[in-house]
Amino acid sequence: MDFNLSEEQLMIQQAARDFAQNELLPEVIERDRDQKFPTEQVKKMGEMGFLGMMVDPKYGGAGMDSVSYVLAIEEIAKIDASAAVVMSVNNSLVCAGLEKFASEEQKVKYLTPLASGKVIGAFALSEPEAGSDATSQKTTAEDKGDYYLLNGIKNWITNGGTASYYIVIAQTDPEKKHKGINAFIVERGWEGFEVGVKEDKLGIRGSDTHSLIFNNVKVPKENRIGEDGFGFNFAMAVLNGGRIGIASQALGIASGAYELALKYAKTRKAFKTEIINHQAIAFKLADMATQITAARMLCFKAACEKDAGKDISESGAMAKLYASQVAMDTTIEAVQIHGGYGYVKEYHVERMMRDAKITQIYEGTSEIQKIVISRSIAK
Ligand code: CAA
Repeated sequence: MDFNLSEEQLMIQQAARDFAQNELLPEVIERDRDQKFPTEQVKKMGEMGFLGMMVDPKYGGAGMDSVSYVLAIEEIAKIDASAAVVMSVNNSLVCAGLEKFASEEQKVKYLTPLASGKVIGAFALSEPEAGSDATSQKTTAEDKGDYYLLNGIKNWITNGGTASYYIVIAQTDPEKKHKGINAFIVERGWEGFEVGVKEDKLGIRGSDTHSLIFNNVKVPKENRIGEDGFGFNFAMAVLNGGRIGIASQALGIASGAYELALKYAKTRKAFKTEIINHQAIAFKLADMATQITAARMLCFKAACEKDAGKDISESGAMAKLYASQVAMDTTIEAVQIHGGYGYVKEYHVERMMRDAKITQIYEGTSEIQKIVISRSIAK
């Protein structure tokens, strides 16, 4: 096993670090306060190849490996977790799913603009009554011959208000349960498709989370992804990869908070010395550094297995389960180390603590990750 990063991976890491410092940091506090989507920054991320990182260049992607993807998301999330989730959803849930499972026509029409960052995409699985229990889809797509009629509501959809193309999961034959579920590519602006209310969230407030309403939307048959009944397996396969993106986002939130806490502890004095010289603080930082390194290794392992074409359901779930816990623990302790300063917005760590929580919820809660892992090890 080689723990050294290649020249190319180091370059991508540095480019993401510079971008985050120069383009994301300046107004990150205001975007969080105002729930403002980082429109200009996301456009630049597209130009840098960060929105279709692993997609083949013939479909507008950057053709990079998954370890580079982990590195880039970590650097972005260190500064702005909201920008990181826009990136993760577009790369992992939208582009990766289309590249692996869409038809050639679908790739040319939809993947190419999405991977090159000309437009962004969203993935619509969750519903008011179908979150963890994803097979209980209430959204229906009725087969009408050369089109499907789509009806229903999707909830908490990342990029919901800014996407141009949506992958929508819907039930086409309830009798067949998960074998009667399909995935469709739906365009914004189609008649009957309405973007609903924007959520007012605890964290990742710069990201754009909406409900989606489908009222007799005609979806051409050629917009179904894969064979009839493939939609649930499609969603599961896509989410396995998505969990690497969210694990990397969690890793970035944790390492960002750790770096700020370390810097603060080296300069802030109490009882006549820098607080890092107090064991109570030093041991917190030691735990953070150890857990962040372990989380990073789990992300790299899942990424390497993905590039090797292996089943990543277990390794992706482990990376997400662990990294999201580390993000939560680290940000809470980073606020604690900062004391009163940690509780005000200017010092960033309170935002990071709020941002961390969602990584234990979306793309499969921590409890769902434990279902996936326990089923895998019991096999
Ligand atoms: N990888 C690949 N296939 C999987 C899978 C996995 N991790 N988990 C299940 N499957 C397959 C099974 O093999 C089975 O397929 P076959 O019938 O062909 O064999 C099929 O899916 C059904 O499996 P189960 O009978 O195990 O289904 P289940 O209902 O018991 O539960 C679950 C499966 C793992 C709990 C699943 O429902 C799940 O992952 N739930 C969480 C959903 C989720 O992550 N939602 C996040 C929303 S998206 C989001 O947050 C995006 C965002 O905007 C940021």
